[in-house]
Amino acid sequence: MSVPSYSEMVELVKEAGSSQQEFFGYPVKEGGLYLQQDPEEFAALVHFLAKEVQGADLTLDLGIASGGQTKFLRDYFDAKKTIIVDDGRHVLFPHWARIKPMVKTEFICEIIRNSHDKEVREQLAPWRGKVDFAFVDGDHSYRGLRQDIFMMKLMLRENAIMVLHDTAAVWDCKRVFDDLLRSREFTLLRNFDNRFGISVWKRLKPRTPPGYFNHQFGWGRL
Ligand SMILES: C[S@@+](CC[C@H](N)C(=O)[O-])C[C@H]1O[C@@H](n2cnc3c(N)ncnc32)[C@H](O)[C@@H]1O
Repeated sequence: MSVPSYSEMVELVKEAGSSQQEFFGYPVKEGGLYLQQDPEEFAALVHFLAKEVQGADLTLDLGIASGGQTKFLRDYFDAKKTIIVDDGRHVLFPHWARIKPMVKTEFICEIIRNSHDKEVREQLAPWRGKVDFAFVDGDHSYRGLRQDIFMMKLMLRENAIMVLHDTAAVWDCKRVFDDLLRSREFTLLRNFDNRFGISVWKRLKPRTPPGYFNHQFGWGRL
């Protein structure tokens, strides 16, 4: 797959359309992707993943809203199979039905439910330890994001990539970012933080399997 330059990628993000001109700084486009991303920051992430990670067999997106970010990334990052988790409550979620058929991947599981429900972990059980890449952009509370990361510890294989959004702009997510810097099971690979903060982590060798208090309350060492 040929990869546009970083500057071209910034323009491609803008052309895809945001969900709000005033907030994101580029226009909403009729029939577009309704992205909730900063163009420079998101382009830097996509460019990095396309050039340096290149692709993944099994990917997982937690928190998709319109699904525009799910689609855009997979235009340049070869994601063979994809799992989706979202609670379906976002005002942009109705766009997903339109955008989903345009995503270059095979969807093998789509869970529309609160990611913290134990039923979600049960549904995801067949792919435990097999996910190569996860984009985590769901619950932005301190506890909720930590719960999601404990679930990712179950799902990600060693050396997999985990991307977190809003780890600069949202105070609770920033606190989780700081916790992760002290983790023995993740290491920071890249941090694109022009505006919202997109941090890229590598999953290290699993040490302690997450348990009840990790999943239920987000407590414990990440
Ligand atoms: C910030 S939006 C995602 C934006 C999207 N990644 C993008 O870049 O356009 C957060 C999404 O996560 C969903 N969400 C929030 N909390 C959730 C939870 N506990 N379980 C599942 N989905 C959740 C919201 O409904 C919304 O669709």
